[in-house]
Amino acid sequence: MRQDDQRTMLTIDGFRLVAVTLILAICIANPVRAQTATASDEAAAGRDLILNHSFLPRDFHQSVFDELWKDWPEPLRSEAEKAAPEERRTMAFQRFGFAPHPDDPAKPLQYVVSEDGWWSMNCFACHGGSVAGRPIEGLPNAQIALETLYADIRRTKLRLQIPLSQMDIGSMAVPMGTTVGTSNAVVFGIALMSFRDKDLNVQPLRLPPTYTNHDMDAPPWWNVSKRERLYIDGFVEKSHRALIPFVMDQRNSGETMRGWEDEFEKVFAYIESLEPPEYPFEFDQPLAEQGRAVFEAKCAECHGTYGSQPDYPSRIVPIDDIGTDRVRLDSLTVDHRRGYHESWYARYGEDDTVIDPEGYQAPPLDGVWASAPYFHNGSVPTLWHVLHPHERPVIWYRPDNAKYDSRRAGLAIETLDEIPEGLRGDQRRIYFDTRIAGKSAAGHDYPAKLSEKEKRSLLEYLKTL
Ligand code: HEC
Ligand code: HEC
Repeated sequence: MRQDDQRTMLTIDGFRLVAVTLILAICIANPVRAQTATASDEAAAGRDLILNHSFLPRDFHQSVFDELWKDWPEPLRSEAEKAAPEERRTMAFQRFGFAPHPDDPAKPLQYVVSEDGWWSMNCFACHGGSVAGRPIEGLPNAQIALETLYADIRRTKLRLQIPLSQMDIGSMAVPMGTTVGTSNAVVFGIALMSFRDKDLNVQPLRLPPTYTNHDMDAPPWWNVSKRERLYIDGFVEKSHRALIPFVMDQRNSGETMRGWEDEFEKVFAYIESLEPPEYPFEFDQPLAEQGRAVFEAKCAECHGTYGSQPDYPSRIVPIDDIGTDRVRLDSLTVDHRRGYHESWYARYGEDDTVIDPEGYQAPPLDGVWASAPYFHNGSVPTLWHVLHPHERPVIWYRPDNAKYDSRRAGLAIETLDEIPEGLRGDQRRIYFDTRIAGKSAAGHDYPAKLSEKEKRSLLEYLKTL
């Protein structure tokens, strides 16, 4: 059954490849079009590819999605039963952390839904979401609940006796994310790459790798243009090929993936074209001006300067100095990084890959008001908590995902000393528990030495970036 499925997928991929090649041939053969193509055309084409082209194989059908509510726990199920189909869809979008698709609000930004109703995940699953009620492309999706979505899908498919997809099965072996808003994306990459050779051809008979599951908060895309190296430890040189691991599904052959350079050049142009969103609430301008001076004295050496003549130093801070959670740094071993370096992704060793980074790169802070929660693992809910290291909550959750805390700049949260007992998985994943391995909110103590007055001004300044 699954082999048949795979063969169908390959045929479809083959068909797509032919279609894409034909379109490209037409574009190349048309010199007028080629001459007028600009950077913004490239970016628009990249955005269109993410929104409308299924790079990942189809996962489930609309008819399955529309049935999910029937397997929801009470009282959710009864509420959904009474609701009109449109409200039911809103409930589902809220449960899974979807924002509306810009062209059709009945569809999610996070999935490509084909004309015949097949869903496949796109980059916006983790790199697009809403803040303060406004959907923003490139914003880390602080609401995504992939684990809950795939657990629901498995339950409904089993009831309907529909075979599970690769993603449904894979997510039983490698959890997709234990806390809402974060994902185990780096480990998917490690696990999937271990079954490929350096040309990306699938080698199914290899031994599974060793890895440590850990959840990450995706970084905002609008800062990629400032960076020369990607990821929190900056181990990868920035290039369009470096984006292709995100569509590494076993059903995408090496040849298919190597054939996507043109597409990913456009996706890359789109990511590089994004601008940070502006702070939408009032702030205290004179106080922010004072905060600028504090920032330039205490923070700029790592995070750079902002305004008319920005500067970004790309500074990597040794792990013992930064002191934030180190599981991410250790979980990508020298062997994993070397495997990447020697592969097609890094031009067989030509790109500058750091196989033993010593710590984390201080990220650019443009639009930082919007990209809560903070730090690479998403452990700190607001900028106020970044500035008050001794007052960071041990356990926090969002009673209302749509709410923004403009006083502390970040997620509106409640805190707890203990997670309530007897919760189901979907309920437990709402709580961020900083005591779990990989989820520590410690470190980055630099602001601790500042006076309360300096912190107040700094918080105002950070809102303006
Ligand atoms: C399941 C969630 C998920 C999906 C889907 C996803 N990403 Fe990411 N992405 C992440 C996470 C998490 C990181 C941070 C990894 C790290 O720093 O180690 C990241 C990092 C990145 C970065 C580096 C940004 C920086 O500033 O360092 C780029 C670029 C990127 N992703 C592009 C893509 C593209 C293109 C796609 C779709 C083809 C995609 N991602 C799909 C989770 C995801
Ligand atoms: C020695 C270098 C260094 C100094 C000084 C420093 N930072 Fe950082 N900062 C970092 C690094 C590295 C990270 C990433 C930590 C992580 O994600 O684990 C970071 C992360 C952050 C973040 C979270 C960004 C995000 O998107 O998650 C904020 C906000 C921040 N710093 C603000 C400040 C402010 C304000 C100051 C000055 C009081 C400051 N930093 C001083 C290195 C520094």
